[in-house]
Amino acid sequence: MTDLVIPLADLRYAALVPTVPSELSPATGLLSDRLGRPLRDLRISVTDRCNFRCSYCMPKEVFDSQYKFLPQTSLLSFEEITRCARLFAAHGVAKLRLTGGEPLLRKHIEVLVAQLSTLRTPEGRALDITLTTNGSLLTRKAQALRDAGLQRVTVSLDALDDAIFKRMNDVDFPVADVLEGIQTALRAGLAPVKVNMVVKRGTNDDQIVPLARHIREHCGPGVVLRFIEYMDVGATNGWRMNEVLPSAQVRQRLHEAFPLLPLDPSAPGETAERWRYADGAGEVGFISSVTQAFCGECNRARLSTEGKLFLCLFASRGHDLRALLRGGHSDEQISSAIGLIWAGRDDRYSELRSNGTAAIPSGERRVEMHYIGG
Ligand code: GTP
Ligand code: 5AD
Ligand code: SF4
Ligand code: SF4
Repeated sequence: MTDLVIPLADLRYAALVPTVPSELSPATGLLSDRLGRPLRDLRISVTDRCNFRCSYCMPKEVFDSQYKFLPQTSLLSFEEITRCARLFAAHGVAKLRLTGGEPLLRKHIEVLVAQLSTLRTPEGRALDITLTTNGSLLTRKAQALRDAGLQRVTVSLDALDDAIFKRMNDVDFPVADVLEGIQTALRAGLAPVKVNMVVKRGTNDDQIVPLARHIREHCGPGVVLRFIEYMDVGATNGWRMNEVLPSAQVRQRLHEAFPLLPLDPSAPGETAERWRYADGAGEVGFISSVTQAFCGECNRARLSTEGKLFLCLFASRGHDLRALLRGGHSDEQISSAIGLIWAGRDDRYSELRSNGTAAIPSGERRVEMHYIGG
């Protein structure tokens, strides 16, 4: 059965209206896609807005004062998000990540965290709930998030040098405020705090060692720095391969300053390759989706701000779950539709890009990171 492609009033990306099977099947927690991959991780975007304008994600020329962000009525409500997350948990999702845009810009986000923290896996365990933020509002929000049940945070931070950081966020935001946010998060118990640095050759690659040194000296092993290869996600960042610094080279530069030893993966399908400092100062990670695709075990689904389910970070079409949520469908119907969508999944964009066979349907464009989250 193929899904219908329909035009929607607030269409950003092609939307597929999910098929509700006439014969409903209860969730087993054992879903598997066409490549045998389970569903374990749901990333939920709660806003498409951000107070930064990182050139690799929301370049100012595109995301200016004329840009039309989603209207409030398009966003999933906290109740709709929690309902979806409950259905996904029954299908085997054990980890939730709130993203944006900048998720801390969504009003009363801690109320959503409190609702999500009541969810359980079929075995009765609480879900792992985390959030990716640019850190600008973390000093203000960390304690409330912790009190609501958030377990940890990931902070994006691309440079230690204030001038370079300001150039990258393109809104003159000072690095000191993000560093303070990280310390506040640690004090609130949101550990381990992961710090994600997107490395662009010629822009911030001279920050690899200084940022690592700062974290070793001022944060300790409660903070894990991860280096991310600059990706060709979306359609607006003008990505070029020569701006990618392969993780192997990042690791070599770091190793020359602070010797490293490899660690075993801690979970199947993990994005980061883990290493530790030989002197015991903690752990670092390398996320290499350009030079070493990790689609083979990808167990991640993404729910956009307006309730479309995307099966890959590089997809150009989402499955409109909001149409079902607002269309009077029962939990069983929506759950069965989700099962059908996942069973049909064969996305593996990064692998296909590596072997030169990636393509998007003509007339469509890839989803943007600020809309779908990281
Ligand atoms: P933790 O459990 O906290 O380690 O989360 P994670 O490993 O899923 O990492 P996180 O959400 O912080 O993702 C880090 C970065 O990896 C993102 O910002 C993306 O750049 C990249 N990334 C995450 N998931 C995917 C994915 O499924 N595909 C690709 N190509 N890149 C991804
Ligand atoms: N390549 C790699 N990572 C990216 N992010 C955003 N755009 C890109 C890109 N083009 C990361 C941010 C943040 C998360 C939300 O996604 O740095 O950590
Ligand atoms: Fe930068 Fe993250 Fe905002 Fe994108 S969502 S502009 S990466 S801070
Ligand atoms: Fe998963 Fe798509 Fe990323 Fe591959 S490119 S790891 S399938 S999200």
